[in-house]
Amino acid sequence: MKLQADYSFLLSGLLLAPSVGASTCQTPIDHPGPAFSFVQPLNTTILSPYGHSPAVYPSPKTNGTGGWEKALAQAKDWLSQLTVEEKAWMATGQPGPCVGNILPIPRLNFTGLCLQNGPQCLQQGDYSSVFVSGVSAAASWDRKLLYDRGYAMATEHKGKGTHVVLGPIAGPLGRSPYDGRTWEGFAADPYLTGVCMEETIIGMQDAGVQANAKHFIANEQETQRNPTYAADANATTYIQDSVSSNVNDRTLHEIYMWPFANAARARVSSFMCSYNRLNGSHSCQNSYLLNHLLKTELGFQGYVMSDWGATHSGVASIESGMDMTMPGGFTLYGELWTEGSYFGQNLTDAINNGTVSTDRIDDMIVRIMTPYFWLGQDQDYPSVDASVGALNTDSPPDTWLYPWQFTGTSNRDVRSNHSQMIREHGAASTVLLKNERNALPLRKPRNIVIVGNDAGPVTQGAYNQNNFEYGTLANAGGSGTCRFSFLSTPLDAITARARQDGALVQTWLNNTLITEKAMPDLWNPEHPDVCLVFLKGWSEENIDRRFLELDWNGNAVVEAVAKYCSNTVVVTHSAGVNVLPFADHPNVTAILAAHYPGEEAGNSLVDILYGDVNPSAKLPYVIAYNESDYNAPLTTDVQTNGTYDWQSWFDEELEVGYRYFDAHDIPVRYEFGFGLSYTTFNLSRLAATGSVATNLTALPEQRPVQPGGNPALWETVYTLTTEVSNSGSVDGYAIPQLYVGFPDTAPAGTPPSQLRGFDKIWLEAGETKTVTFELMRRDVSYWDVVAQDWRIPAGQFTFKAGFSSRDFRANTTATFVRDH
Ligand code: BGC
Repeated sequence: MKLQADYSFLLSGLLLAPSVGASTCQTPIDHPGPAFSFVQPLNTTILSPYGHSPAVYPSPKTNGTGGWEKALAQAKDWLSQLTVEEKAWMATGQPGPCVGNILPIPRLNFTGLCLQNGPQCLQQGDYSSVFVSGVSAAASWDRKLLYDRGYAMATEHKGKGTHVVLGPIAGPLGRSPYDGRTWEGFAADPYLTGVCMEETIIGMQDAGVQANAKHFIANEQETQRNPTYAADANATTYIQDSVSSNVNDRTLHEIYMWPFANAARARVSSFMCSYNRLNGSHSCQNSYLLNHLLKTELGFQGYVMSDWGATHSGVASIESGMDMTMPGGFTLYGELWTEGSYFGQNLTDAINNGTVSTDRIDDMIVRIMTPYFWLGQDQDYPSVDASVGALNTDSPPDTWLYPWQFTGTSNRDVRSNHSQMIREHGAASTVLLKNERNALPLRKPRNIVIVGNDAGPVTQGAYNQNNFEYGTLANAGGSGTCRFSFLSTPLDAITARARQDGALVQTWLNNTLITEKAMPDLWNPEHPDVCLVFLKGWSEENIDRRFLELDWNGNAVVEAVAKYCSNTVVVTHSAGVNVLPFADHPNVTAILAAHYPGEEAGNSLVDILYGDVNPSAKLPYVIAYNESDYNAPLTTDVQTNGTYDWQSWFDEELEVGYRYFDAHDIPVRYEFGFGLSYTTFNLSRLAATGSVATNLTALPEQRPVQPGGNPALWETVYTLTTEVSNSGSVDGYAIPQLYVGFPDTAPAGTPPSQLRGFDKIWLEAGETKTVTFELMRRDVSYWDVVAQDWRIPAGQFTFKAGFSSRDFRANTTATFVRDH
């Protein structure tokens, strides 16, 4: 007889557990509840009415298609050895050393699963690196950078015993620039974010660590992301439920689901369902979303875990397609932690009494364990470093019920030589927005003034500090925050570089002093060659941004300096969009957006400022003239007190980011895809290569679904080439971009231009290269809500190639489908 695992130590934590099913949250437009009252056959066309989520059951079983077949067999074999209780706890998180923990099963030599944040570093890491943020990585438009960053970050996680990295992020996508977490994600564009997701995931998983695509889906604001609860004993009574993102079917497919389809295609191990409701149902118990869209249409083979505390039911969530609850044993209700779980012992009971079928729990475990075997995590995997447990503030050691054992050395240094790479990535991610009178690169300036509270050292520790006054901002707050083991500041790096030139460097870091004093007095004895002004913009999880200007009176600091300094160069470290009212000031000669560049902030900036690296990054969002120019405002307040009154209607539909500005011809300060270089590029002759497929079928051939969906959608249907040349005198990278304009036969609301290709190419001064754009069927299709499929519209497409979403240098047309 096999020894059974003893989980009696967990019982103490279950006394307050709400019973499964009974406390399932039901709303008038929510999941019908734990009963299997409505079973929708999966092969039937299902239309999702706007603002409502139809029920879709049962949850599809994984079959390992797409390369996981062998691992699936191993997972099934492993599953056959589990008791019911062990199965239940495999799906239920526990307090432990990592931010998410699945219990070990020692008799099977299974040491458990360690889940760790996050998208820019190992959050609970000492002696680990802080990489460039998501928004920085997106600004690089560099596939190799994205892969290398994902690979290196995951290598560090692995060294510390992480099995699952909680990232990358495609939600928020950046519907609104006010969202507090845009910097953790990538670009306000599904195509670019899709590429970023795919490269990052492949990189992470090549390093042997599971990736997690989060937060699924339409997680576009932090305000009321969780329900507010009455302070009753169990804290389970809602005052008001979480915000519902109400998104129509076409918008969901073409904007928010698009990058998640790339994630599924990259064979991401897991998805994280989000806090918000989608069309009235909690994302983690929305059967249409998880069973239909994710597990059927996208053919996702891995497991769905809840965001921390996003589970609001037991059976209802399980039947809706959620496979793992986090953090599990202790549950986060809103911002309150209480003991107990909808899963755990309740799930054991539900399996034993038949409320949850053996088929379903078995599929949950197989989904969880298949990626584990696929990535070889059963073979010599590093143990969890004791130091990550000590740094865990989510479930500190005194909350652990299980007697976690640590083996191997602690405080392992996993940084390797990554800082050199991070420095290169920082420079490759820094966007040059303005450069007049040849302000940059600097040419051995002898008298330098450094201004602003973002320039120098952090005086109070950067880790999750709320908008600290002094210190450069290279990362921000929430679960994506990082512990720096080293931080190169602009002040240090510029000073070191300036010393080589024998320069005089004067420093004014106090913003209040700068705005209240007359500047020339401060920088005597002579007029400076350049004034470098450092501004910052803080952002964090759980709170949306209230304004898009720079913090700490940034505009006034620039005005105060530029009033006297005729060569004022502004550098921003921020989450993303900032309106830049000083951009027209004649004395502001250059502006650089450095976002959150990680630990090599200063050095990577010096590389750009002094021209060792020619800037090539491009904006992954739009910088408008005014805050009021942006559409899609967040739902920040409701005046009524109904339980389900928090609603966010995505009425702008496809008009997200530049799509909106273009559709309404709104002038912008710096458009999506824009960024200067120290050289100039030309682009000419956009033409099809090979024979143009003029008689494609409008709808794709129906092939067996693979991870990512119907493989026919991912096939190249059209190839274009263009010639790009470096017409200036400095070598550098060009980033040619391809946008598509759909024919008039596409339904109303189709954006005028949508990104569908880009490349990053090195060109020596005077050099010309051919660039190829391969378009897939999905790239030239829209989501047909009636056919419930991707349709290529009849009529003439326009393809536009250039260097931003508003700088087209060549175009061509093509028709793929002749008849309607
Ligand atoms: C965040 C997730 C994070 C999790 C664990 C949640 O509040 O939304 O992104 O992975 O916490 O820290």
